[in-house]
Amino acid sequence: VADHGTVTVLESLTVPIVQAPMAGGVSTPALAAAVSEAGGLGFLAAGYLTVEALRDQIRAVRRLTGRPFGVNLFVPGDPAADQEALARYRDRLEAEAALYGAELGKAMADDDGWAGKLAVVREARVPVVSFTFGCPSPATIANLKRFVSTVVVTVTSAAEARLATEAGADVLCVQGFEAGGHRGTFTNTARIDDLGLLPLLRRVCAVTGLPLIAAGGLARGRDVAAVLVAGAAAAQLGTVFVACPESGANPLYKAALTNPVFPGTAVTRAFSGRAARGLVNRFVLDHSEGAPVAYPHVHHMTKALRAAAARAGDAEAMSLWAGQGHVFAREIPAGELTRALAADARSALVEALRRHPG
Ligand SMILES: Cc1cc2nc3c(=O)[nH]c(=O)nc-3n(C[C@H](O)[C@H](O)[C@H](O)COP(=O)(O)O)c2cc1C
Repeated sequence: VADHGTVTVLESLTVPIVQAPMAGGVSTPALAAAVSEAGGLGFLAAGYLTVEALRDQIRAVRRLTGRPFGVNLFVPGDPAADQEALARYRDRLEAEAALYGAELGKAMADDDGWAGKLAVVREARVPVVSFTFGCPSPATIANLKRFVSTVVVTVTSAAEARLATEAGADVLCVQGFEAGGHRGTFTNTARIDDLGLLPLLRRVCAVTGLPLIAAGGLARGRDVAAVLVAGAAAAQLGTVFVACPESGANPLYKAALTNPVFPGTAVTRAFSGRAARGLVNRFVLDHSEGAPVAYPHVHHMTKALRAAAARAGDAEAMSLWAGQGHVFAREIPAGELTRALAADARSALVEALRRHPG
């Protein structure tokens, strides 16, 4: 296991809980700081933010806590997209946009401010930087490590774990199929890999010795205990933090997580052109089949439509990202949630040993 102060940041946590970075306004400095203050690792999500907003959020976290925290960046992908498929999807969504009085956005590619955001996390010497949607080059990672203590790469398969290890990552975030939000796959392909978290952890452990953060569908302390037993150094939870008062999620979205009107979750490209898990609403049912493999083109196309649906108070056309454990989300302060998850994980471990003392 490589040791560049890596294990130190994970080991400096008094509780093995990572609050998932959640782009789109859910992650806030208050949320990240509350989790870090409770002894876990809070995360800011740089995705979709401007470079200036990211800089401000990093400053805001530092005003709230002296504890380590992380920043997550989207790795830019292939900007090419099937223009005909995009045009067909646009035609299909016109009526949907009209319903909410919104204009569909231009289906364009961008790199989410990649170079500018990398410069910000370097300058700010952010303790932990994590990546999703790809693996930065070995040179980029080596350079970053001169400024930040821990580099985390999100992986969804053993092959990606091997690549990220070879590229010089310090820690891998292993994201199972149960996870809410976008799949962190290195490439945006039509095929969706569907390995659940435990089998995936097993496969990843077989190809790397790096410390692992496990993510996907974890909702309670005993779920955290399960992934620690399975070999993870920490558990990363997203959906259950969406409901916290410190999260920036729209109240409609928070309420939807436990609303029986939404029977479950599905992986869809309908909102962004990239596979992501969310609550099954009307938009997911109507448009998942027609959605092209084109990210971030489709994200830009549907952004104003989704915002208009939110303004109209209609959750049926909003992206309600949620993992399979969404029914367990509760509106409790993030620090309290972090401490409760850790305490429950500990009792679950003790209880399991007591049941099977061997
Ligand atoms: C609303 C939301 C937004 C997310 N945004 C990001 C992101 O910006 N970057 C990232 O690496 N992962 C993102 N994720 C995925 C999480 O990192 C994590 O894999 C996932 O939340 C774990 O599954 P869970 O939601 O069931 O706990 C997001 C998840 C959610 C629910």
